[in-house]
Amino acid sequence: MLSYDELESMEIDEKCKRILLALGKIYEAEGFVEISSAHVSGISYDNIGEEGLEWLKSIRGRVKVRTTLNPAGMDLEKWKEMGISEEFRKKQLEIIEVFEKIGAEITLTCTPYYLLKPKFGEHLAWAESSAIVYVNSIIGARTNRESGISALASAIAGVSPYYGLHIKENRAPTIVVRASGDLSVVGYKAGMELAGEIPYFIFDRNVSRDELKLLSASIAATGNVAMFHAEGITPEWKDFEKPSERVEIEGKMERKCDADLIAIGCPHCSKEELEQILRLLDGRKVKRELWIFTSRSVAFESKKVVEELEKLGAKVFRDTCMVVSPATEKFSCVMVNSGKALEYLPKKRRVEVAFGSLKECIEMAVS
Ligand code: F3S
Repeated sequence: MLSYDELESMEIDEKCKRILLALGKIYEAEGFVEISSAHVSGISYDNIGEEGLEWLKSIRGRVKVRTTLNPAGMDLEKWKEMGISEEFRKKQLEIIEVFEKIGAEITLTCTPYYLLKPKFGEHLAWAESSAIVYVNSIIGARTNRESGISALASAIAGVSPYYGLHIKENRAPTIVVRASGDLSVVGYKAGMELAGEIPYFIFDRNVSRDELKLLSASIAATGNVAMFHAEGITPEWKDFEKPSERVEIEGKMERKCDADLIAIGCPHCSKEELEQILRLLDGRKVKRELWIFTSRSVAFESKKVVEELEKLGAKVFRDTCMVVSPATEKFSCVMVNSGKALEYLPKKRRVEVAFGSLKECIEMAVS
């Protein structure tokens, strides 16, 4: 653990140092804990604009720990296919160049846990709310809900203010939630109803890691939630007393429109999800636009599956997503299986959104 004086005397970018010292004071942190990795959000030029780019360019020095990046505003190779302009591409590449210079890994994914594989109990400074919930809850590593800027400051300093979810006793569940149905919808509703809580979920069936990933994303999108426990599943579920307050949430939702785009991969698809999409297509040709988002590393690992998906007419994009890229703005109704995309697409891309399970989304794509 580093003291305030020790951080003060570090020879690092002054702005980064000031940000961490100020955050430490605001949250009354006793000091600064060493982190094993940082994950930085705010990579899309569409999100940060010219001011953000100028700020990034002013950063001096290099990152001290492994540092990964959230999705950018375009697929670095297939940007033309997405309808991205040359001007946008230039600006996006400038942002990526800055991160390359300071030593960040150009991962461009919101699922850094597939790459970094953090371990139980490790301290991190991650931005990207879906990844924060996933890594705290499902892996048991520890991070607060960092912003892109504070995660970058921590990457440069190698430490994060020691408060909040870095401390075991602050990770106790605060409410029991009996949940059934689609977990993306459960998360969407839970975030709205239970903002700021640490839910203790009891599911009525076996659930997969990918379902928990969707839950992590939607609960963080609609509510200020940074972690949950799931009975019998997550690593810390037995460590605390069970809360007495209880609620029930049913993961059911009707949201329809005539989709001209089906967008899957919020958060970025895992290898298993890509395989599941291929199974659901079952050799049928895609008749509407079907865009699938994943990371460059998962796409590389699943090369064969990606080729098969593309043969059937799906478009598999890397490095970006349906929300942070301006490319989805040209559609009028986008169908998704993600509670996070359901929340953000209308706000960020001004499109109508339909919701369905992965199976329903694929049936729409072939209809
Ligand atoms: Fe990831 Fe974009 Fe969704 S960053 S969690 S795919 S909004």
